[in-house]
Amino acid sequence: MLLTVLSWLCASLLVSVGGGKLPEAEVQIEVLHRPFLCHRKSKYGDILLVHHDGYFENGTVFHSSRAEGDKQAVWFTLGIREAIKGWDKGLQDMCSGEKRKLIVPPALAYGKEGRGLPR
Ligand SMILES: *[C@@H]1O[C@H](CO)[C@@H](O)[C@H](O)[C@H]1NC(C)=O
Repeated sequence: MLLTVLSWLCASLLVSVGGGKLPEAEVQIEVLHRPFLCHRKSKYGDILLVHHDGYFENGTVFHSSRAEGDKQAVWFTLGIREAIKGWDKGLQDMCSGEKRKLIVPPALAYGKEGRGLPR
């Protein structure tokens, strides 16, 4: 079995809890940095190693993989709802080393109540 392990990096995650401007089910993707060399882009089933920072709409950080715990990037399998739905949508076609900002509506994150895992 060939396991493709890709070192993706630095996906920044901005979760908008208030909702409003965005359609319910869309993730807004802003590419902050795209590496010069990109041999392969992420697709469903890939295992990515990502750093992420999560912000509320008001700019308050609610999570940062660089600041908390052991300050490690986290492994994330794309497309299997391992984290929030917004990640499965927003981390496709990413190059290794790419940096993105995702604006995720509540429906694709933690729901309107804003706590716990979506079910
Ligand atoms: C920002 O928003 C979050 C979530 O609504 C809230 O918990 C936090 O207190 C707010 N921070 C500030 C500085 O308003």
